[in-house]
Amino acid sequence: MKISVVGTGYVGLVSGTCFAETGVNVACVDIDQKKIDNLNNGIIPIYEPGLEDIYKKNVEKGRLEFTTNLAESIKDADSVFIAVGTPPDEDGSADLKYVLGVAREIGKSMDHYLVVVTKSTVPVGTSMKVKQAISEELEKRGENIPFDVASNPEFLKEGSAVADFLKPDRIVIGTESKQAQKVMKRLYKPFLLNGHPILFMDITSSEMTKYAANSMLATKISFINDIANLCEIVGADVDNVRKGIGSDARIGNKFIYPGTGYGGSCFPKDVQALIRTADEHNYSLEILKAVESVNYRQKEVLFTKLNKRFNGDLKGKKFAMWGLAFKPKTDDMREAPSLVIIERLLNAGASVVAYDPVAMEEANRILGDKISYAKDEYEALIDADALILVTEWSEFRLPNFRVLEKLLNNKIIFDGRNIYDPEELEELGFEYYAIGRSK
Ligand code: UGA
Repeated sequence: MKISVVGTGYVGLVSGTCFAETGVNVACVDIDQKKIDNLNNGIIPIYEPGLEDIYKKNVEKGRLEFTTNLAESIKDADSVFIAVGTPPDEDGSADLKYVLGVAREIGKSMDHYLVVVTKSTVPVGTSMKVKQAISEELEKRGENIPFDVASNPEFLKEGSAVADFLKPDRIVIGTESKQAQKVMKRLYKPFLLNGHPILFMDITSSEMTKYAANSMLATKISFINDIANLCEIVGADVDNVRKGIGSDARIGNKFIYPGTGYGGSCFPKDVQALIRTADEHNYSLEILKAVESVNYRQKEVLFTKLNKRFNGDLKGKKFAMWGLAFKPKTDDMREAPSLVIIERLLNAGASVVAYDPVAMEEANRILGDKISYAKDEYEALIDADALILVTEWSEFRLPNFRVLEKLLNNKIIFDGRNIYDPEELEELGFEYYAIGRSK
């Protein structure tokens, strides 16, 4: 089989590379010539565990190629996946100009039956707009080439995107025709050998599934963060509560870890977009509106604790920050809680020395010399007034507390991810502040 994947961002690059891994010939397309040149020269624009290996292997085997020529890429293809970005508009709704632009390009150059699959996260109704755009272009050409549109939302997580793609929990496909179903079934069968299902449904339900999934997950996080804050007030430990509720199979123990609020490119954008879609249909998604406002508040929690501990006097103080990325195993800083905390600290006249195992280059791009960057986690601590842990990278989980004690000015830790044991730190003489733990 042969496919074209348009957009070499996160979703496009991972999808294209993983499809090639099953023996499919894949052309990854992007309008950004530099990105394509880099990819043709072995330079991958994102950090994602496992990606480099299968990228190299499939490029060597000649199954994976990179081009700016969309028209060429869809010649002889069975299917074309649209995986370009949908950045939020000023009003929070998804900007579809790239998705529809690609649809028009496809309509201008296709010369045989194609399944045009929307893989970008797009608002309900977009696949129909894609269909319309292609039809219009075909009409302009006076052509009547058959095609199908399909919606195939992506559920991969940054940091484990390759593993998620290779072993998905489920594949959701919205289609209107048996022929399109057949093509999609062939493409995805190799990933479903673990018995997990491919769920065919109508296009609107498929588009809705993506938003409902991310919104549900964001709801779990805001819920536990809200409960965590109350735990602190009433003298409970949210870590116990989390385990207590998580062992009920109906609730489950995943995705109920409190923290400094969800970040990343997906949850904030998708929650906002779904609220917006509902508003457009004169329906108010009250729960999601609360999820969003709880998340804004949560990003302030760590700074508020810190400010209180230092009696509002942060001027001239220096803080060590462990972790900058919005979560471990990625260099992505989009909507990262670290950015909010850093901004508050700098505004209060404090300085920040940060260390992140992979996100420092990205942080430097965004923050420049507003903060300093340490070469390792221990260097960041030298003469700092406290340690602030923002991202739970595994290398931060078992530090040598004796070394911390020596390097820090004060034995104070603000733990935004509850990764340390309050009792152990108390025994070691540290002042320990976490999320939702009264101790
Ligand atoms: C999320 C979804 O999990 C994916 O299924 C989806 O495909 C993706 O968005 C997308 O729409 O493309 P991702 O943004 O990579 O994936 O990150 P997650 O691992 O879901 O984490 C999101 C945020 O929630 C992070 O800031 C994380 O720290 C936070 N989080 C997660 C918590 O605060 N507590 C938890 O228990 C879990």
